[in-house]
Amino acid sequence: MAATGSEKQGATAYYVSTPIYYVNDAPHLGHAYTTVAGDVLTRWHRQRGEKVWYLTGTDEHGQKIMRTAEANDVTPQAWCDKLVEEAWKPLWEHLNIANDDFIRTTEKRHTDRVQEFVQDLYDKGEIYKGGYEGPYCVGCEEYKLPGDLIDGEGEFAGQKLCPVHKKPVELLKEENYFFKLSEYGPKLLEFYAANPGFIQPESARNEVVNFVEQGLQDLSISRSTFDWGVPVPWDDKHVIYVWIDALLNYATAVGYGANQEKFDGTFPADVHLIGKDILRFHSVIWPAMLMAQGLPLPGKVVANGWLMVGGEKMSKSNLTGIKPQDLTSHFGVDAYRWYFLRAIAYGSDGSFSWEDFTARYTSELANDYGNLASRVAAMVGKYFGGALPEATAVGDAERAVQEGLAKAVATADQKIGEELDFQSGILAVFDFVKQVNGYITEQEPWKVAKDTTSEGQARLATILYTAAEALRGVAVLLNAVMPETSQSLWESLGAEESLGALADQKVQDAGAWGILPAGTTVTKGAVLFPRLEEKPA
Ligand code: MSP
Repeated sequence: MAATGSEKQGATAYYVSTPIYYVNDAPHLGHAYTTVAGDVLTRWHRQRGEKVWYLTGTDEHGQKIMRTAEANDVTPQAWCDKLVEEAWKPLWEHLNIANDDFIRTTEKRHTDRVQEFVQDLYDKGEIYKGGYEGPYCVGCEEYKLPGDLIDGEGEFAGQKLCPVHKKPVELLKEENYFFKLSEYGPKLLEFYAANPGFIQPESARNEVVNFVEQGLQDLSISRSTFDWGVPVPWDDKHVIYVWIDALLNYATAVGYGANQEKFDGTFPADVHLIGKDILRFHSVIWPAMLMAQGLPLPGKVVANGWLMVGGEKMSKSNLTGIKPQDLTSHFGVDAYRWYFLRAIAYGSDGSFSWEDFTARYTSELANDYGNLASRVAAMVGKYFGGALPEATAVGDAERAVQEGLAKAVATADQKIGEELDFQSGILAVFDFVKQVNGYITEQEPWKVAKDTTSEGQARLATILYTAAEALRGVAVLLNAVMPETSQSLWESLGAEESLGALADQKVQDAGAWGILPAGTTVTKGAVLFPRLEEKPA
């Protein structure tokens, strides 16, 4: 049976990928959603001390890109170069995406290997020449089955539309090369049965299994009516179908056919993060391509839901007009990274609204978390001159906080690190923040401070140590989601000096107690989540 990602041999990396995005336009909220999720997942695993490889990139061939470039009077290559350098890479940098590589499908390191891969399949008899006629959606870059189409209304009345793009499909008739995908149905079903976690969530898995059970058709893997693509090596009148080209990025970027050591230590991906729109490509075609080549199969394919606008998938054509940068300039980069993962269960659809973001920012980030951090630092400053006191009078209330932290660590590690249930993981941390707020409210350190006996001062010291140590744990737990504010909190706790870099604090050790040494210098840092300005007009 084919191996999965979990069976990688040797010194291996935890390898996570995003889809490579079409560069027909600048990135929008939907693209950023998947990319931030991948960044949080990989930062989490790095914080566990694991070796990680996080890959993203751009998909630059095909008719869709070619037409966009033509409409803008530039060559496709010039169009791609400009968008990648001026829009895509800068956004990922702005959002603090720590990807290890960025692959572009027009790079030679990719195109050469794509040709070799396809040539190999051809030599093995997996590819043959045939004819095809059918409806094609350029938006999806995919031949559609007649049964998948919907009837047009209004301006499209009488026409058949793509169900995703709601635009008329084009009837194409071409002589193409075909990959014998139909032969892989039984092997794929066997693989899904043996690896129940391969496709997530469950609804996505069921959809794919049903689809494959109905029988697969062979896949057209070349196009001959335009030339913006990788030439078919044995027949340069054809270019390789953009999806075959694109899927191979997951192999070429990690050394396929070029750097065997790197390839063996990284491939296959442990997690392919995708939107549910491209599920079949990743869970049917991609594994079949790997099976045909005798390569190991990925660990899992995890589909996120759609960010919606007006009841439809957010896309280039129905954008809200809100760019990721509009939100980050108002809420900040960290709050942006946090919001979508916090507000929407990963795998489900969700909508964005200013009102919801504003309400959650104010209550959860600014009031619950930010205020806690600034109050604790202020009290250590006021009552102990900024030197973290020792906890000498620990009782049940403190033990409950200690247990709360250990529980938050265990839950967040399982939910974020293993299940990709970002929402539950983040909630576990914020429940703990609430618990610490409740502890302070009950203990009333400002009243205890008035008790100048040594018992009174020991209580006060214990309360503030407990709160600061709890925040030490929170900074570690939120570092993957909100790296800038976690760093700021880390420094305000004096932890950078006493414990070293935040990135080096292992998440699995974060639930231990008594890590932050007494005597550490606590300072009132910058406000973590400033009060919001008026919403921009
Ligand atoms: N180029 C292909 C992918 C090739 S991967 C080998 C492609 N590109 S795309 O630019 O259309 O991006 C698709 C991905 O962007 C989705 O799968 C999803 O991850 C993300 N999203 C785009 N719009 C989205 C929403 N409205 N909501 C959530 N994610 C969205 O398909």
